[in-house]
Amino acid sequence: MAVDNRWALIVGASRGLGLGLAAELQRRGWNVVATVRDTAGERRLQDLAAKPGGKIRVERLDINDDAGIAALRRRLDGELFDLVFVNAGIAPRGRGDAASASRDEAAELFLTNVVAPIRLARAFVGCATARASSPS
Ligand SMILES: NC(=O)c1ccc[n+]([C@@H]2O[C@H](COP(=O)([O-])OP(=O)(O)OC[C@H]3O[C@@H](n4cnc5c(N)ncnc54)[C@H](OP(=O)(O)O)[C@@H]3O)[C@@H](O)[C@H]2O)c1
Repeated sequence: MAVDNRWALIVGASRGLGLGLAAELQRRGWNVVATVRDTAGERRLQDLAAKPGGKIRVERLDINDDAGIAALRRRLDGELFDLVFVNAGIAPRGRGDAASASRDEAAELFLTNVVAPIRLARAFVGCATARASSPS
């Protein structure tokens, strides 16, 4: 199948693995909806969009913002994705062990890395195509 009509949603694409995946898919001809939280991330995606390859559409989202997830879902209503990749996440600060982390830090980690991706996946479950598959 030609890849020029494939769409991916990458949540947390401003840097790191998400940006790398967006760049690789775009280079292979995939169209990518990429979410960021700030203008620095937006600029990186705009630079990517200028390169040869698929289209890049940039959206703003903080995955801890339930209303933001609902708003993004509405903005993307009718779109179907061959790949939905939730990269957004945070690493523990300091030593990163449960015994020394503050309760606020532990809660932030749990909400961002566990609760938010589940809520996001639930919101977008109807947006994945039946042909959703690994990148080619
Ligand atoms: N790279 C590895 O080898 C590795 C290994 C094990 C686990 N992980 C985990 O996998 C995840 C991704 O890794 P990475 O290397 O790509 O990390 P990274 O370079 O720190 O990038 C994290 C990405 O998540 C976004 N993000 C963080 N909190 C967010 C929020 N509340 N809402 C929306 N976006 C948010 C960041 O956006 P901003 O730019 O706006 O902050 C950034 O785009 C992280 O949770 C990391 O801890 C990575």
